[in-house]
Amino acid sequence: MKNLYIKTFGCQMNEYDSKRVSHQLSSLGYSLNDDIGVADIIVLNTCSIRQKAEDKVYSMLGRLRPYKEKNPDLIIAVGGCVAQQVGKKILGRHRHVNLVFGTKNVLNLKKMIEKIEKTGGRYVDVGANVIRDDTIDEKMDGYMVGAKNSVTIIEGCNNFCAYCIVPYVRGRERSRPEERILHEVRTLIKHGAKEVTLLGQNVNSYKDAASSSSDFPKLLDKVAAIDGLERLRIMTSHPKDLTDELIDRFGAIDKLCNNIHLPVQSGSNSVLKSMNRNYTREDYLSKVEKLQKVCNNITISTDLIVGFPSESKKDFNDTLALLRQVRYISSFSFKYSVRPGTKAASFDDDVSNSEKSERLEELQTLQKKIQLEENKKLEKRVMEILVEGASKSGENMITGRTTCNRVVNFTGDESLTGKIVSVNIEESYLNSLLGKLV
Ligand code: 5AD
Ligand code: SF4
Repeated sequence: MKNLYIKTFGCQMNEYDSKRVSHQLSSLGYSLNDDIGVADIIVLNTCSIRQKAEDKVYSMLGRLRPYKEKNPDLIIAVGGCVAQQVGKKILGRHRHVNLVFGTKNVLNLKKMIEKIEKTGGRYVDVGANVIRDDTIDEKMDGYMVGAKNSVTIIEGCNNFCAYCIVPYVRGRERSRPEERILHEVRTLIKHGAKEVTLLGQNVNSYKDAASSSSDFPKLLDKVAAIDGLERLRIMTSHPKDLTDELIDRFGAIDKLCNNIHLPVQSGSNSVLKSMNRNYTREDYLSKVEKLQKVCNNITISTDLIVGFPSESKKDFNDTLALLRQVRYISSFSFKYSVRPGTKAASFDDDVSNSEKSERLEELQTLQKKIQLEENKKLEKRVMEILVEGASKSGENMITGRTTCNRVVNFTGDESLTGKIVSVNIEESYLNSLLGKLV
């Protein structure tokens, strides 16, 4: 057996792609090993969503040089969004890299690595707009087995939010055939999965090209009907495409979890407009209200950007007010970062870095306060937890999540993994709850 080390940066789409990388290379005799020192191949699956993410990739690339000096046969491959965008230049600047492969070229990886194994050489493979349809079949590795898993249903994005690089590095939307998705979910369940997350940059615009009758709400119905599936989640939903029909599913489908990630980005209408988000604050709030009506325990999480070009203090205060109104149970918040080639890159990046930092700090402080208050409300309640395995929080502790997506740690045996158990919540913290098996 040869050893494969993968470092995954960024979002869940990249994590899914890393599973595909590992699956492809397993047929060449490579098995995943998280000890980089024994690696025969190192794969970096990169993220370019913000400058900081991209910088991390370059600094890791620098740290890989000594490994190659020690072992000249080591193959180093760089995939993901930075690879897609920067392409050939990575080979020029980093002499120790053998292969740069794009987000749409994961399917070629096996072939490329075989070529490098046989004849050496350095390659760039960032072309093609291959539709992702490589269902992971039943001969899967250990990484596939787990209480929860994810399945990509749609790749790419057509929305061109002014700040965002994704449409450039992941290309236009491509939905996978429905049959492939259903097959993959069934396969995961056969191997022990109880919870599946359907993934896409914007799952709401899922549409099976071959079947006019299949859109996202209908796909949800079909996935939910699969025997053995206990919980279903979706990630991510663009608010503008969250239709009433889809909202209704949160009431109608029991297996669909009581949580939705609904990135708002800003609470100011003028900022939303220049971000090209295609909804207003009022549209967003009305959808939140409808969600809460069909599913009264639903929790919402979000993404936020501070310091977008021309964001005034008042715009920022509108975002804070929105946070107070929606009361997100968690949020990812970022300082605006200019991405070359996007529409906003031509705007004046006029909020100073120190102002961005101050706004981010203020926003995160408020979010923490709300989050803790929301978590405190759960104390003394008995909640259903899907056990995911051992917890890092202490000896004999296991961990899992509520349907509303809170992490709960409690004393218990690892053999409960994959089971849904009742846990009494005893204490609440910012990012997790502590409970006791009932
Ligand atoms: N600057 C800062 N944050 C960004 N995001 C996307 N692009 C940028 C950018 N240029 C954030 C958005 C998105 C999340 C995945 O990353 O909030 O929802
Ligand atoms: Fe980026 Fe907007 Fe597409 Fe999300 S919807 S991936 S933020 S362009």
